[in-house]
Parts: sequence; C-alpha cells; structure tokens
Amino acid sequence: MALGISWLWPWLVATLVILATIHIVLQSQKIKEKIIASLPVVVGDTILFLREPSDFLLRTFARRGDYFTITTLTGAKMTVVNSPEAIKFILLNSHKSFSDGYTKEFKRLIGEGKFQDPDRHSVYKKGILGIVTGEGLQRLFPLINSLAQKTVESWENQLAVNTSDEAHKFAFKGGMLAAWRNEEMDSMDMEEIRNNLIILREAVTAIPINFPGFYYHKALKAKRALESRIQKELFKRRKFGHETNDFLNVFMSVKEFEVSDRDIICMMSAMVFASASSTSGLIPWVIKYLHDFPEVLQHVQDEQDSIKQRMAEEKSTSFSWFKMKSNMPYTQQVINEVLRIEPLSPLIPRKVKENVEYKDFVFRKGSTVWAAMSSVQLSPDHFPNPRKFDPSRFEVTPKPGTFMVFGTGPHMCPGAELTKMQTLLLIHHLVTNYRWKRCGPEEIVSTPVRRVTGFPICLAKRHDQ
Ligand code: HEM
Ligand SMILES: *[C@@H]1O[C@H](CO)[C@@H](O)[C@H](O)[C@H]1NC(C)=O
Repeated sequence: MALGISWLWPWLVATLVILATIHIVLQSQKIKEKIIASLPVVVGDTILFLREPSDFLLRTFARRGDYFTITTLTGAKMTVVNSPEAIKFILLNSHKSFSDGYTKEFKRLIGEGKFQDPDRHSVYKKGILGIVTGEGLQRLFPLINSLAQKTVESWENQLAVNTSDEAHKFAFKGGMLAAWRNEEMDSMDMEEIRNNLIILREAVTAIPINFPGFYYHKALKAKRALESRIQKELFKRRKFGHETNDFLNVFMSVKEFEVSDRDIICMMSAMVFASASSTSGLIPWVIKYLHDFPEVLQHVQDEQDSIKQRMAEEKSTSFSWFKMKSNMPYTQQVINEVLRIEPLSPLIPRKVKENVEYKDFVFRKGSTVWAAMSSVQLSPDHFPNPRKFDPSRFEVTPKPGTFMVFGTGPHMCPGAELTKMQTLLLIHHLVTNYRWKRCGPEEIVSTPVRRVTGFPICLAKRHDQ
C-alpha cells in the first residue's frame, strides 16, 4: 500500500507554525522565498521538502551523498537512504533489524492489526497472494474485465468524466472483489464504505488532533463506521457459513494460530484502503500521460486493437489473463514508466530495531529510516534523462534494484499484479472503443505525493474500426 506518507505529520505541524509566522510577519512572496533560504537548514529544508518531496530528495542526495540524517523540529532523527543497494539491504532485512515505521497516529487511522507481526505475516501474506496472483488472479480476470468495460461505457454518457473520482470508484470495486466480495451488497452500502475510505485518505496528511472540528477527528469516526460495517459482514459470514475466495475468508480461515475479530477487522480496513487508494492514484496519471503523448497513445491503441481482434477471432473465453497480458508489452512499458516517473510510494519508512552496520554507516537503534524510492526512480545514474516520459526505456529490463515501485523483500506489495490487471483492462476498453480529450482544467497536488486531483475528460465513440 502506498502508505509511505505517514512520517509527514510532525513536519507538517512544525511547518504550519513556521509558515503561519512568516505569513504574519511578511506578506510579499519574494521576501518569503529569501527568508526560507536563509533559515537554518532544517527549517528551510522542511519547507522545500513539503513543497516537492521527490525534488527535494534528489537535490539533497546530490549534496549529501547516499545517506543523510535530518533532525526534525520535534527532535526525532531520521535517516534518508538513497542508494539502491542500501535500500535493498533495508527492505530485505525488514523482519530482522527493521520494523514498519508508521506513526501511532497513522496506525490509528489505518491500523493493520497484526498483519505485519513477524510470527504471522507469512501466513497472511501467502493467503492473500493466493487471491491476487496466479490462478486467483485468473479467477478475478472475468470479473474485473466486465467491471472495466462497464466503467468505461458509463463514461460515454457523462458530460465530463471526473477521472480521479471514477478511478477511485473503479479501483475500490476491483479491490472489493479481491478483499471483500459480496455480490448482494447494494450500491448505497458500497458508496458509504467508499466515502469512508476517501475521508481516511485525506486524513493521512491532516494534523492528528482528535478533537471535534479537526479533520483527524472526523476521520476516526469514518474509521469506526468502516470497522463496524466489516464486523457486521464478519458475523454474518460466521452465522451463515459463507465461503468466498477473498481476503476476508483468508483471515477467517487461518489455522496456524488464533486470530481475534479485532485483528481481522483492522487488517480488512487496511486492505480495502490500500487497494482503493493506490490503484486510484495510478489510473489518472496513466490517462494524463496517454493524453499528453499522442504518439504513445497511438502505439497503445494499435497494440490493444490487435488484442481485441484476436480475442474476437479466438473466442474470448479461451483467452487467459496471462495470455492477454503477454500480448501487450508496450502498454505494460507505459504503466511502468508512469509508475517510475510519478512515484506513488516515494518513501518507505522503517524503524531500526537494533544498531545495524551497513558498509561505513550505522543505523541507530530507535531511529527512523526512510528508503527514498523516488530518488532511485528519478536518478540520472539509473534512468538517463529521468524527467523525460519515455516508455521505450523499459524495452530493456532496468538494472537490478533500480525499479522497485512495489518495494522488495518480505513486505513487497502483494497487490502489484492486481493493480496492473485493473489498469491494463481499463486502458484496453478505453482506447479500443473511444477517443477522448481533456475538457476542463488540470489539477495536480504535490504534497506529500504528486496526485492528479483533476483531469476531466470527454469521450466520443471511435468510428475507425
Ligand atoms: C499502484 C499501486 C500500488 C503501489 C505503487 C503499491 C506500493 C506498495 C509498496 C511500495 C509496498 C511496500 C511497503 C513497505 O515495504 O513497507 C506495498 C505494500 C503493500 N501493498 Fe501495495 N501498492 C499498490 C497497490 C496495492 C493494492 C491494489 C493492494 C491490495 C490488494 C495493495 C496492498 C498492499 C499490502 C497489503 C502491502 C503490505 C505488504 C506486506 O507488509 O507484506 N497494494 N505496496
Ligand atoms: C471530482 O471528484 C472529487 C471527489 O472524488 C471532487 O472532490 C472533485 O471536486 C471533483 N471534480 C470536479 C471537477 O467535479
């Protein structure tokens, strides 16, 4: 799950205070810039960092080398790690020397129960992977395929398609098919769950003050609503013995150890959150890049047209997902390039459990380490001209350890294949049936992670086939 944003809040609080002060003292934009540059390093860095985290990390990387330690305004020491080798070392040793680095406040919002407990993690993970990879993924294929088709068809009648909202709906529904499948759930019920997830997503960067009037407070309420809805489902399944191939069933049928209801509910809310928020972050970017690069779109369209034709000829029922996917190498390159250039998890936090020596560096017990994934993805050493959107760079496999958008090691993202299937199928139905253009202003927020919040498109049926 693209959760690497939780470390932000102490910075945010501090920054807000400073920014507010600067605002009060000086009102001119120009003077403000100067002041930022001349404040002590930490303060200035915090502001620059909050403006554009990836850029900040790249610049600092260039200045300070593979590792650098920052003392935040709250006094906590944080080490940022930029080199692929060191990042790999940290992520591969995740159980032994490093544990997850999410803050208490974040876990209160999106706590995952004991999902990451080293004694339990591999059992849960194996179960989940059974649902969203291999045969499990193939079982999801027809469901997600028809969801993608219906989603795109529903866009045809909309005056302007709100891509970020529609992507969230689609990602959410697809995620639910994997995590919590319930064909009987009505659309009101679904929308209510989805709305709670949106509130949680927005709250990740809110100041964590649990008091009426604060967003965090509202979000904790949304969390409780989500939890009680999951609990209802859990009890219903127990009572009626409902068996489905989904995450909930995986958690309910663990035999190796006892899993409390509380743990199941927490893990489920995290899973539902992760699946909806990450995929919905990716899809609008893909739509935007296809729009902005007509020659890339043309290439994707040609590839997808020929798949559509072959599927029609060979009767689509005999087409497995894996066969379909193997026929779209270029579209996959496009997805990879979007994931590279727009890091959805720019930083992965870990807490250091014991002093760890790595080469000439010591990670101190108790400190927090950030694996700066975005520095690697956007480094000219690994990807020449890194800011250039160029899917053809994936014609050759990137050097090991330089392309880890889904992490690596024991905590590597289990949802990677599902996300790709959802995105590729949506693109398939979109480009083979419609032409589309942007028909409203573009909106992108960049704090803490660059995200497309507005990219309205208008669709017209293609008549050239
Ligand atoms: C574009 C989409 C996605 C991106 C970029 C992404 C990225 C990541 C990354 C980088 C990690 C590793 C975090 C760490 O090491 O601490 C991760 C973990 C995780 N992701 Fe995703 N993810 C995506 C989609 C999904 C989806 C669709 C699901 C749900 C099925 C999901 C569920 C999870 C879970 C449960 C973990 C924790 C795994 C563990 O601790 O073993 N992710 N994700
Ligand atoms: C698109 O949907 C989001 C809700 O997901 C909303 O916040 C935003 O204002 C919508 N944009 C437009 C242009 O309606």
